[in-house]
Amino acid sequence: MSDRLEELRRRHAAAEAGGGAERQAKIHAEGRLTARERIDLLLDEGSFIETDKLVRHRSRDFGMDQQVIDGDGFVTGHGLIHGRPAYVFAQDFTVLGGSLSETNAKKIVKIMDLALKTGAPIIGLNDSGGARIQEGVLSLGGYADIFLRNTISSGVVPQISAILGPCAGGAVYSPALTDFTFMVEGSSYMFVTGPDVIKTVTHEDVTKEDLGGAVTHNAKSGVAHFLAHSDAECLQQIRELMTYLPQNNRDDAPRGTSTDPEDRADAALDTIVPPASNVPYDIKDVIRRVVDHSKFFEVQERFAQNMVVGFARMDGRTVGVVANQPAFLAGCLDIDSSVKGARFVRFCDAFNIPILTFEDVPGFLPGTAQEWGGIIRHGAKLLYAFAEATVPKITVITRKAYGGAYCVMGSKHLRCDVNLAWPSAEIAVMGAEGAVNIVYRKEIAAAGSPEQQDATRKAKTDEFKDRFANPFVAAEHGFVDDVVEPRETRRHVIRALRLLETKVDTMPRKKHGNIPL
Ligand code: HXC
Repeated sequence: MSDRLEELRRRHAAAEAGGGAERQAKIHAEGRLTARERIDLLLDEGSFIETDKLVRHRSRDFGMDQQVIDGDGFVTGHGLIHGRPAYVFAQDFTVLGGSLSETNAKKIVKIMDLALKTGAPIIGLNDSGGARIQEGVLSLGGYADIFLRNTISSGVVPQISAILGPCAGGAVYSPALTDFTFMVEGSSYMFVTGPDVIKTVTHEDVTKEDLGGAVTHNAKSGVAHFLAHSDAECLQQIRELMTYLPQNNRDDAPRGTSTDPEDRADAALDTIVPPASNVPYDIKDVIRRVVDHSKFFEVQERFAQNMVVGFARMDGRTVGVVANQPAFLAGCLDIDSSVKGARFVRFCDAFNIPILTFEDVPGFLPGTAQEWGGIIRHGAKLLYAFAEATVPKITVITRKAYGGAYCVMGSKHLRCDVNLAWPSAEIAVMGAEGAVNIVYRKEIAAAGSPEQQDATRKAKTDEFKDRFANPFVAAEHGFVDDVVEPRETRRHVIRALRLLETKVDTMPRKKHGNIPL
């Protein structure tokens, strides 16, 4: 017995040592943490229970029989985040570069299956040189096993990926299938083909950081959702995100107690929209003034900034906020913002999170780049996402709601439950100037001198604004439920959320829809 105990302790110690002190010192020197240090920071103190610590790989080729380390370079298990269970795997770069083998893929698969069965989130801490080269197709099979589970788990349990080192080749597709991807500036990168292959094929010179670093994927490609400046900050961000999320698709997000009064009026909202309708303002000011304690946890802050998405609480309850941003590209819808909004709306819908939309949208962005890039099918994604969502949906029109964008952004017609407008709302087919130039073209041309033409145009524009660029026509038709004083927005939204707590809405039975991908 004592021999066995000794053997057990020796194996545990070997697994904990990973690739050894020298390799650990190297990654520390690069500003990265070890797999176990990361797990310690991610989970509630002392809550981690490790699984498969004694697993060993079975490869005997290329001298691999001399490189057997208990645990095989991945740390897997479960623990608590803010007292709620979560599954976690962390790739240990000190062991064969964190490469994926047949056996450590099985370790991941095992906890993914458990996460799915027990209905708890799964968090992957990625830091790996990719497929273990010595194992060939066995490693590739391991990746595919994980991809399958990512797909099956999608919309059932939240899946989070942190990229904390290399993540290249096909390995990127597991994070890509998950709900939220975090990256650390300066130490993480993701790409399908690296700088050397790119140089050979397209003759482009690009650094790893420019090609697939945290800034690139947060600001340019939209592959990542959050950027941190250190491993520790990244893991804290994940913990914060988890406070907004339910455990699974049958659960509700945790409800906190809010000390922010439900009827808190905010007079600044009455003047936040500038009198001239082409003058920008920051929609995040509006969001912060309405939600609990002004706390807004923004998602994809750097990408497609004309669309703002993120989590907040109202009356202690998680809401997903979707908003046009007049301070960026006038808040118009384009390809990136449509896809960003659609993905977020679908996440909220999958996980029972009510959607609160703030609308100020002049329409879709014109141009060949947009048309040839497929704004038709990408814009349709946002439309589809809003239309299929059955969670409580509340829309507040702060200013413009023009054209097709009016329909898309949580309109009544897409079965939004409560639609409110501020008195500053302009709900019409298009802006007054554009409308007058089309409808009154002949009258303007016939008006005589350029001065007379301008006077006619102005008179017609004023007339159009009076008649259509307001919220009252929509209210007369019941397309908005009420026109409210901006200062009272919080009270109206909280009341609506309470009303909608028991909402039941469904889609017809089908295998799945065919969202325009
Ligand atoms: C086995 C690997 C490995 C791998 C790294 N190592 N990657 N071992 N399989 N894929 C080992 C190295 O041999 C080294 O071992 C140790 O990990 C650390 O690697 P270094 O190169 O010293 O580290 P660094 O200089 O930081 O460079 C990191 C790296 C580089 C950029 C990730 O290691 C690298 O380019 N690795 C290969 C990446 C790759 O091509 N992978 C396959 C991608 S294709 P020692 O003993 O010297 O410490 C793929 C397909 C997936 O993944 C398909 C899914 C469908």
